[in-house]
Amino acid sequence: MRSETALRERMAEHGKALFDRGLTFGTAGNISVRLDDGWLLTPTNSCLGRLDPARIAKLDDQGRLLSGDPPSKEAFMHRAVYEERAGAGAVVHLHSTHSVAVSCLHGIDPANVLPPLTAYYVMKIGTLPLVPYFRPGDPALGEAIREHIAKTPAVLLANHGPVVAGKSLDDAMYATEELEETAKLFLLLQHHRTRPLTPEQIEDLRAHFPS
Ligand code: 13P
Repeated sequence: MRSETALRERMAEHGKALFDRGLTFGTAGNISVRLDDGWLLTPTNSCLGRLDPARIAKLDDQGRLLSGDPPSKEAFMHRAVYEERAGAGAVVHLHSTHSVAVSCLHGIDPANVLPPLTAYYVMKIGTLPLVPYFRPGDPALGEAIREHIAKTPAVLLANHGPVVAGKSLDDAMYATEELEETAKLFLLLQHHRTRPLTPEQIEDLRAHFPS
């Protein structure tokens, strides 16, 4: 694992890259990284484009603040992911526009929101359950995601945005970006006849790129 200092710097780098590309804005979104002795989480009401690595919150396994600025109001949600996914090293939550747009659509399949349009979407996300709407910061949201996030690395919060876990911060970030681009493709293809990947093609991907 990278050192805590390097991980703090990487969180700020990724936050700035997300902000510069319009994938986050204002004070939306939060990022966490698991450490050997707790975890790091972006401060509440912080702009991900301007994170100060030294002020990122450090929490213990029970979610108590050890150092840094007060953590994101979604701390319980990140903690729920780490508790349900032993292999998760990082969690990214955004309000990225296309994913949020999909989360507001009427009639989407709550068991799996997006079709398997491309190989990279299948490889990095695969299945995307929709979690019902809860107010940001409502502890019930943490409980609501548990059953899903135990089985899939990503969920979509209704009228809110994606939550994506990865083995490392880079993995979580790249999967989040893949999800956002697939949501964009899905919206571009609305009212067009589409040809998603077939079950055989998906099987072939799973065999060659096991997660
Ligand atoms: P925080 O500023 O508390 O992290 O909340 C931002 C957010 O994305 C809420 O969903």
